[in-house]
Amino acid sequence: MLVTLLVVVFASLLATLYIQHRKNSRFWADRGVPHSPPHPLLGNFDCFFKQNVGIWMRDLHEKFQAPLIGIWVFRQPVLVVADPEVAKRILVSDSELFRNRYLASGKSDPVGGLNIFTIKDPTWSNIRRRITYIFTGAKLKAMHGLLSSKSKATVDRILQDKANNKTTEIRTLFADYTTDIIGTSLFGMQNDAVGTGDSPLRAVTRDFMKFDWFRGLSFYSIFFWPALVDIFRFSFFPRKSVDFFRKSVNTIIEHRTTNNLENNDLLDALVKMKKDKLDDGQEFSDDLLAAQATVMLQGGFDTTAVGLTFVVYELAHNPKIQEKLYKELIEAKKSKGGADLNFSDLEKLTYLNSVSKEGLRKYPPMGWLDRISSVDYKINDTLTLPANTPVYINAMGMHHDPQFFPEPHKFDPDRFLPENQQNFVPFSFVPFGEGPRMCIGKRFAQMTMRYLLSELVLSVQFRPLPGSPKPSEVNYETKFAFLMPEHPLSVEFIPRN
Ligand code: HEM
Ligand SMILES: *[C@@H]1O[C@H](CO)[C@@H](O)[C@H](O)[C@H]1NC(C)=O
Ligand SMILES: *[C@@H]1O[C@H](CO)[C@@H](O)[C@H](O)[C@H]1NC(C)=O
Ligand SMILES: *[C@@H]1O[C@H](CO)[C@@H](O)[C@H](O)[C@H]1NC(C)=O
Repeated sequence: MLVTLLVVVFASLLATLYIQHRKNSRFWADRGVPHSPPHPLLGNFDCFFKQNVGIWMRDLHEKFQAPLIGIWVFRQPVLVVADPEVAKRILVSDSELFRNRYLASGKSDPVGGLNIFTIKDPTWSNIRRRITYIFTGAKLKAMHGLLSSKSKATVDRILQDKANNKTTEIRTLFADYTTDIIGTSLFGMQNDAVGTGDSPLRAVTRDFMKFDWFRGLSFYSIFFWPALVDIFRFSFFPRKSVDFFRKSVNTIIEHRTTNNLENNDLLDALVKMKKDKLDDGQEFSDDLLAAQATVMLQGGFDTTAVGLTFVVYELAHNPKIQEKLYKELIEAKKSKGGADLNFSDLEKLTYLNSVSKEGLRKYPPMGWLDRISSVDYKINDTLTLPANTPVYINAMGMHHDPQFFPEPHKFDPDRFLPENQQNFVPFSFVPFGEGPRMCIGKRFAQMTMRYLLSELVLSVQFRPLPGSPKPSEVNYETKFAFLMPEHPLSVEFIPRN
């Protein structure tokens, strides 16, 4: 009797699941959008722990060669957009309707869920508005001394390693540099990871970089199956770094409040937020403040370090491009009588900026932009996207599409020179996203990259180390969605004089 009952219950459960799957599987066919049939559990998300998500996005676009593709990420239908016009509408013109991301950090991890990368509107706009001003041009110009001295210290570290016959692992070194820059300029924490290879803040960023299975699973869940985050209590940041930030941010904030100190940085903005209230009259919690500091570090240090890593690695393998860049820099320096290049000089160097852009075109750290529609949204005359359907703008796909970037696998900074921009299609190049939810640290990151790149190229030559992989042979991290190398990368450094 009991057995029969169990069998009946189990069979009807299976039948329900099967019927649901059949219905869900028709989602894109019903709407006339190109797609492949989904796996019942993974959907089309077969890169899960097997392939880097950015590379998967690129391959998806290569396979379909269509401006709009329908996929299932696990059980969730997602529209993948590689059409710059549609991208522009979603990111900018109709951004009011796409203010949130699909990814979500749940409620079990307060610091992870409250940062401006994961948090939903209206809290998002409330916080973003109060933080944006710390990234204005004047604030960035004031970073000249810091960026310049840390870039020089980075070169010293390379020369020192060389004198000790030590191979410098470039991503680690560049992460030392970016951790110092963010720590000092945003939190007012003096840090010397570049000089010593370590610091309290570097211990935190080193934890961020550790991708074991659990953290990999946490991130996949936060980005691609957010409904599971609270069930498994996944967290955005490692526990230890959350504790570190809770303690140090609150200590610094208290210290500044009681002593009326100002440092013109992110923490000042947080102190002001603490004095104000949210638009709905609620107070900003300590966790909410700590969350903003944590996400700036997490979102900024590795993206910038990895961007620099790929650029330096490509330059080592492209000596002509390296020499062209050296010429531009040395001439700019000569025209100033040998004085250091400053913020405005660096901003104007067209080849330097083309090299950085080409690096972020070929290797965008975040290869897709995540939005979710708040209403039924008409994509075109025949396709309307139901409310709450996620959209991924396929940055990686567009960056590697020959109709936007001929010979996309070639590292060719010339394509970004002003004189070659006549064929440039707006919104086909989006390494920092676009619109109100774009990267808040875009100019900060660009400056951080420019200062170090120029100092490096002026001081040392890069060459491939014998036996090291070619850029096309580099493997990518599979336990994390962002585009980063899976193994350490090094180049040979040869002092210029
Ligand atoms: C080369 C370096 C960097 C790259 C390629 C990069 C890329 C991105 C991208 C693609 C997004 C999503 C934008 C969108 O959805 O439209 C983003 C968001 C964000 N980035 Fe960056 N980023 C970099 C550096 C930084 C730095 C240095 C900081 C902080 C100092 C930072 C802080 C953030 C934050 C807080 C967000 C979330 C913004 C929001 O949702 O309002 N990023 N970044
Ligand atoms: C709308 O987009 C879908 C998917 O790309 C396409 O099949 C359809 O032809 C488009 N409709 C119009 C009217 O352009
Ligand atoms: C580095 O290697 C060179 C050549 O092999 C050797 O002469 C030198 O003593 C080494 N330096 C150190 C600090 O080990
Ligand atoms: C940077 O140097 C240029 C000269 O190359 C000078 O005109 C300019 O005022 C300097 N800018 C800053 C912000 O120091």
